[in-house]
Amino acid sequence: MTPAFLAAELYTGAAVAQQERHHYAGRLWHAVAAASVLAEGHVIAERLLELPLLLVRENGAVQAFLNRCPHRGMPFVDPEAGPQACRRLVCPYHGWTYDRRGRLLAAAREAEFLEPFDRSAWSLEALPCRELAGVIWVAAGERPLALEDQLDLVLRECPELLQRPRRLLRRTTVPLHCNWKVAHDNTLDDYHVAIAHPQTLHREQGPVRHYRHVVSAHASLLATPWGERGEFFTFGLAPWTHLLLWPDGRLALIQFPPQAVDRCSMDLWLLGDDGHGATADAWLAEMQRFLDEDRRLVEGTQQGYASGLRPGPPHRLERRILQQHQLYARLMDDRAP
Ligand code: FES
Ligand SMILES: [Fe+2]
Repeated sequence: MTPAFLAAELYTGAAVAQQERHHYAGRLWHAVAAASVLAEGHVIAERLLELPLLLVRENGAVQAFLNRCPHRGMPFVDPEAGPQACRRLVCPYHGWTYDRRGRLLAAAREAEFLEPFDRSAWSLEALPCRELAGVIWVAAGERPLALEDQLDLVLRECPELLQRPRRLLRRTTVPLHCNWKVAHDNTLDDYHVAIAHPQTLHREQGPVRHYRHVVSAHASLLATPWGERGEFFTFGLAPWTHLLLWPDGRLALIQFPPQAVDRCSMDLWLLGDDGHGATADAWLAEMQRFLDEDRRLVEGTQQGYASGLRPGPPHRLERRILQQHQLYARLMDDRAP
């Protein structure tokens, strides 16, 4: 079969976005927080797609629950509040009280429910949650791929770099007027870098003739020589995630979670060790320069797609896009319950 990009209709149809939530996003793990933000005995509220999330660390391990009281749906913790110490989760509405493992300890006026009340039937709803590479990953559906499969190439190519201790140094989010796939494709696109980012990303990645590409079933890698010490790794990962790893231990995570069929956000996290703290502002400014160049490209491309484009032929430097398109098509076609 001739290799081809996904059809433009998949970037503009509202029904497609619904199907993606179930068949694509629902099968995958999502980076929801940096592990360093959640200390022992603390809780933080986050969002994952339409889901309100609660992340809790107890005895070193992180658990994810819905931040939604089983009684009438009230959140326990305000997402604006940031991480906070917590012994008990107390619902501000009618006072149902949970421990940090999601077990109901008490409900107000418990003897007066209309039916006999069984606390054990009203635990918090848990989601699959893992900590890996300094990041907390949560699955958004019931039949997720193995996280080790989703991150297969990262685990294979630089296992020791992933082990480095890191903390979150900076975090930004920017709204984009495009379908998430336009932004994801663009960040997988090694064909445009020399042309569209001559002073920014191209300097970091160096001459095209030195590009080293690796593709796996679930991910792709562009590795480029970096300094005396090794290679700069740019991983493209499902669902809409990019992991950049420098030999000096810095890690940047870029994600494009969808907001609507023609809108997504560009979330950027920068992680490093204490030594990188002093230069984090300069690092962030550098990243923002090329991401702002990309913002114009992706918002322009969305207009092309919305006007009925038939995409042109893929270039060899666009193979990383095709890899993610094939994974997307495979998951969207896998309609098993
Ligand atoms: S909604 Fe939480 S106790 Fe009623
Ligand atoms: Fe770009």
